Amino acid sequence: MLVFGCTGGGWCATHALGSAASAMASSPFLRIAPTLHLRRCCRKFWCEEPKEGTTNGWTRRRSTSAAQRSPDVVEVEYADLNLKNFYGAAPNLGHIRIRQHVNPLSSSFATPVEIPVWKEVFRDPSLPLMVDIGSGSGRFLIWLAKNCPERRNYLGLEIRQKLVERSQFWVEELGLANIHFMFANATVSFEPLVSTYPGPLMLVSILCPDPHFKKRHHKRRVVQASLVDSISKRLSIGGQVFVQSDVLELAFDMRNQFDACLDVFEHVDTIDNNFLCDTQGWVLHNPMGIRTEREIHAELEGARIYRRIYQKQKHCI
Ligand SMILES: C[S@@+](CC[C@H](N)C(=O)[O-])C[C@H]1O[C@@H](n2cnc3c(N)ncnc32)[C@H](O)[C@@H]1O
Repeated sequence: MLVFGCTGGGWCATHALGSAASAMASSPFLRIAPTLHLRRCCRKFWCEEPKEGTTNGWTRRRSTSAAQRSPDVVEVEYADLNLKNFYGAAPNLGHIRIRQHVNPLSSSFATPVEIPVWKEVFRDPSLPLMVDIGSGSGRFLIWLAKNCPERRNYLGLEIRQKLVERSQFWVEELGLANIHFMFANATVSFEPLVSTYPGPLMLVSILCPDPHFKKRHHKRRVVQASLVDSISKRLSIGGQVFVQSDVLELAFDMRNQFDACLDVFEHVDTIDNNFLCDTQGWVLHNPMGIRTEREIHAELEGARIYRRIYQKQKHCI
């Protein structure tokens, strides 16, 4: 199992061969790995996002019983955040009703967000930054911010405002000063945001983005040439991009776009043989120490997650 360590400058990947105990000795961050394993044994579930019966089984795979159990599984996997404690304080923010998808090309999402005063949103805005594009409920990023608090800032970009409001509410309740969520269309706001951030951009994650299956809707996908270009330019040397999807065609779409930048990026398995890939070049394990909610859903339904992790090796020409 690979787990990205929360190190200062870059992402330390440590390979846990053999027992979890020996792995724990080599990386403080692998302390979370055995917990993850235990969590995976708890086959209960959640999410407010998937709906039954949509295109290609992306959301159709769920059986009724899995659907019923899904909220519990996410609660179990994210139990150490204790977010349930806060539902009572803000009843409207617990199980919220949200739109399944929005159209990022609609004119209401065309304007870039206002740049925050970074020292007002992060205690130390000079720290290395991780940006999670399409942060969904925010639990994944909050979990990272809480468990790797001291050396990195975390910025979640999400186009559905209600999710952002709830994520930000949780951040404040948890008293975390290293994480911030923004209601933003990443396609138009990523560049202005990261270009003004005072510290180095070290990791961009795009995890299980909306697939927009129909060909004529592919232009709604978040990974577009302009975003790839911006990530290539703005990442620091040694910084990484982590993309994954349970939809093979979408995973290939993202992969093809980053593979095309091989003058800037190398895939991690060519740099660090601790990253295990299958014969097709997909990274076998989630290196973060925690699964995203969509990932939990997909795996519960028996789907496979296709991952690529690129590291910036050279500046763009
Ligand atoms: C399928 S969900 C995955 C959420 C989370 N990353 C996970 O793996 O559980 C994709 C998320 O991306 C958001 N999203 C889609 N297009 C976006 C855009 N252009 N900018 C920001 N967020 C976007 C959606 O609202 C949704 O919450």
